[in-house]
Order: sequence, then structure tokens, then C-alpha cells
Amino acid sequence: MLEDCTITLAVTGASGSIYAAEILRALVVDSRVTKINFVVSENALRVFAEEMHLSGRNGLAEKLLGASSPKIQQHPETDIGANIASGSYPTDAMIILPCSMGTLAAIANGLAANLIQRAADVCLKERRPLILCVRETPLNRIHLRNMQLASDAGATIFPVIPTLYNLPQTTTEMARQFVSRVLTHIGLPQPGAYQWQPD
Ligand SMILES: Cc1cc2nc3c(=O)[nH]c(=O)nc-3n(C[C@H](O)[C@H](O)[C@H](O)COP(=O)(O)O)c2cc1C
Repeated sequence: MLEDCTITLAVTGASGSIYAAEILRALVVDSRVTKINFVVSENALRVFAEEMHLSGRNGLAEKLLGASSPKIQQHPETDIGANIASGSYPTDAMIILPCSMGTLAAIANGLAANLIQRAADVCLKERRPLILCVRETPLNRIHLRNMQLASDAGATIFPVIPTLYNLPQTTTEMARQFVSRVLTHIGLPQPGAYQWQPD
């Protein structure tokens, strides 16, 4: 179980803005999380515009949450000198939700060309948890190979696949359950999460 933790949350340009909104909300209300380093790729902004009708980078976290949070530090993806770009900065875990095939490819091959890729590279070299919530279908051989490469380097491949056995009634409920699974995986079990209880 994590306590007093610092989490990096990155959002890239794959479909699934609702998951990004829900995980940010869950991290903000979680008293065990003291700091959230938040990075959104340029292409994720395009997806936010399509899926949530949100535009622009300024105040994005506030727009997603409906309020500001002192826990959140948002970084431009171009700021390669941000705190999370260095292994000397203590980060308990990094989650990329959703993770595009492009960002997966860059991480799997060590490109570190923007802050998201560099922060992920740092997590791998420092042997810190890195959760890649990849989203694409169908998968080609390059995607499959990159997932294997990233997994071999220490990342957890956590595909954005919602559960149906909990009978979600809304997309928000579906997203919340997925987010709970991700957070439980890094040591932040969520109150109210569905747990399978066979008779
Ligand atoms: C509406 C929309 C949905 C997209 N969905 C996906 C997706 O599910 N998976 C994916 O790998 N790329 C998807 N893309 C393409 C990525 O945004 C694109 O490959 C981009 O270069 C990823 O850049 P990033 O990883 O720096 O965010 C989508 C693009 C748009 C505009």
C-alpha cells in the first residue's frame, strides 16, 4: 500500500479521455496521494476536443475536475527539464492512461523525445512502476513487439479493456472500475470498487 505518494499521470492521444478524467479525479480525492505530476501530449488535446469538447491546454485539469487542486502540477510535454525528467526526483509510480501506440513505440525503443517518454524511461531505469494503459485494436505485429519490449524492460501493459461482469450502467461507471483496477495495481486500492464474489 502506498502512503504520502507522488504519482505521474500522463495522457496521450489514444481514445479514452473519460478514463483520464476519472483517474485524475480519483488521484485528487485520494488522501494517500500528496502530489500529481500531470502531463498531456499535444495529440491528447485533440482527443479531449473530440471526446469531451474541451479545448486548449490552459486550465485543463480544472476543466476536467470542475475545480482546481493544489496537488496537481501540470507540465508541458516539451519541458524536458521538469522534475520527473530526472531519476533524482522521487516518483512512486507513473501511469499513462490512455497510452497511444506511438508513445508505446517510443518508450519501448528508448526514444525519450518528450517529457512523457523521458519520464517513462526514467521509471524503467530506476525500476519504478510504469503502467502503460495501451489502447488500439486490432494490434499489428509492431504493436505486439513493442508491448513485449516494454514489458521486458519492466513496464506493466494494462490494456484499456473495461469489465462487464460488474454490470456497469454508464460509461463513467465503466471507466471508474477500470481506473480502480489500475490504482489497486500500484498499491492504491479504491473504496467502493467492485470485487468479484462468486457464490
Ligand atoms: C480521436 C482520435 C482517436 C485516436 N485513437 C487512438 C487510439 O485509440 N490508439 C492509438 O494508438 N492512437 C490513436 N489516435 C492516434 C494518435 O493520436 C496518434 O498516433 C498520435 O501521434 C499519438 O501521439 P502521442 O502519443 O504523442 O499522444 C487517435 C487520434 C484521434 C484524433
